[in-house]
Amino acid sequence: MLFHILGLPKPEVQAPPLNATVLIWGGGSIVGNLAIQFAKLAGLNVYATAGKNNHEYLRSLGAKLLFDYRSDSVVEDAVAAAEHEGKPIAYVADTITSSATLSSVQDILSKSTATVKKIAHTAPWPEDLEKLEEFYADMVHGEEVWYKPDMIELGSKVFNEDLPKWLETGAIVPPPYQVVDGGVGKIQAGLKVLQAGVSNQKVLVKV
Ligand SMILES: NC(=O)c1ccc[n+]([C@@H]2O[C@H](COP(=O)([O-])OP(=O)(O)OC[C@H]3O[C@@H](n4cnc5c(N)ncnc54)[C@H](OP(=O)(O)O)[C@@H]3O)[C@@H](O)[C@H]2O)c1
Repeated sequence: MLFHILGLPKPEVQAPPLNATVLIWGGGSIVGNLAIQFAKLAGLNVYATAGKNNHEYLRSLGAKLLFDYRSDSVVEDAVAAAEHEGKPIAYVADTITSSATLSSVQDILSKSTATVKKIAHTAPWPEDLEKLEEFYADMVHGEEVWYKPDMIELGSKVFNEDLPKWLETGAIVPPPYQVVDGGVGKIQAGLKVLQAGVSNQKVLVKV
């Protein structure tokens, strides 16, 4: 998402800061939680949107500024903060990818003074939302790192070489999780937990 579609520099611990802001829309999702950490490792100025209950935790993972996506002024607030810092929002990873989220994301990039403007989204572009042509936007297919020729090297470096080290040193912190006990027969119970709504949490069923 960050390094293939948005074309950001590959993460290195203590990478030099870049003069651009990446916004993770949906930082409270599991994808968002990890995207914040990878973007931070890549040396970017990281903003995220999330429910207020997640702001403190996501700040501890490396998001510099957090915005409540339920606020009416979230678009204006995020743009204004980045412009004020002199690091306009250039990249957005939309981990939720609905008409509502992508509409806000396009609004943000329309108002941003960044020269490069790119969107990575995690699900297909919604049919009922116009895709503005002035931005580059593409969907991430996470599984491609295992078989697509131009991504195998990146996948192998990140997952086989870097990630074990980052987990050991704490540079990347695994997402919070809860375990539903009982094995494969409890998958339905796990799905019900997800259906009821979880925040910043993976639900695991051990099989
Ligand atoms: N294409 C791929 O390769 C790929 C790979 C993995 C996942 N995905 C997709 O990526 C999406 C995210 O997956 P996930 O497992 O990370 O999700 P998740 O953890 O279940 O996401 C739940 C969180 O989303 C946040 N959220 C809900 N509506 C939001 C909105 N309008 N704006 C901002 N945040 C909102 C909530 O955050 P708060 O608690 O902060 O309110 C909630 O806690 C799913 O659609 C999944 O299918 C795609």
